[in-house]
Amino acid sequence: MSIYKVERAKDASDLANKASQAIACHIGLALDQKERAQVALSGGSTPVDTYKLLACEHIPWDRVDLFTGDERWVGLQEDSSNSWMIKRTLLSSGPGSSAKFHFIPTTELSSPSESALVLNKSLRTICKGDPPIFDLILLGLGDDGHTASLFPGSDALNITDKWSTVVRTETLDRITLTAPVLSAARKVIFLVSGSSKKLALKRLLDIEESFERTPAKLVQPSSEVLIFADNSCF
Ligand code: 6PG
Repeated sequence: MSIYKVERAKDASDLANKASQAIACHIGLALDQKERAQVALSGGSTPVDTYKLLACEHIPWDRVDLFTGDERWVGLQEDSSNSWMIKRTLLSSGPGSSAKFHFIPTTELSSPSESALVLNKSLRTICKGDPPIFDLILLGLGDDGHTASLFPGSDALNITDKWSTVVRTETLDRITLTAPVLSAARKVIFLVSGSSKKLALKRLLDIEESFERTPAKLVQPSSEVLIFADNSCF
């Protein structure tokens, strides 16, 4: 069972400030121990301001391998692409632009399954461990308790022998890291903002909650899970 440490922020701006500093600190600590650090980034809208501030942090970004924890199977310059959001924030300019981004190729390949295979190969090449071990994984929390692209009711919740998979939703096909990879991370940080997340966050922190209803409960690293949440989530 995960131990959660909640860092409350006054508002979304305070959350971005607190989170960007903590993320930079964790990456710096990893780089004190090893030549390169592997970091999986959350998609969605919450991290945008955090990534813009993180881009300005002076850490050895050229020694950082970045992945996305999940991706929508759309063109890499579509507004709905997580990679496109990351390129326009963390990677657009400043020190952060020196990081190595291992984006998940999407529509230039023939299918979402092929994208998942390419991600799996990249994970095995760049990350050590089986499951692949990230030094840091950033995650969001959906109103319905999902994280990455692990949604309630999805077969992906029960995958234990693959590190990436395809999740089909009504609107989008998605590629996602699976729960074993999310749980293998040395450090997991959730970024949660907005009153719509109130119930999902309460359930995430509830020791009795099931992962079937709140898939974010599947994320069970051996270290304390850090949650940055603004006051509107309580
Ligand atoms: C995605 C994300 C997803 C996201 C949550 C929260 O591709 O959408 O990986 O897991 O983190 O849905 O999204 P918001 O930050 O937009 O609320």
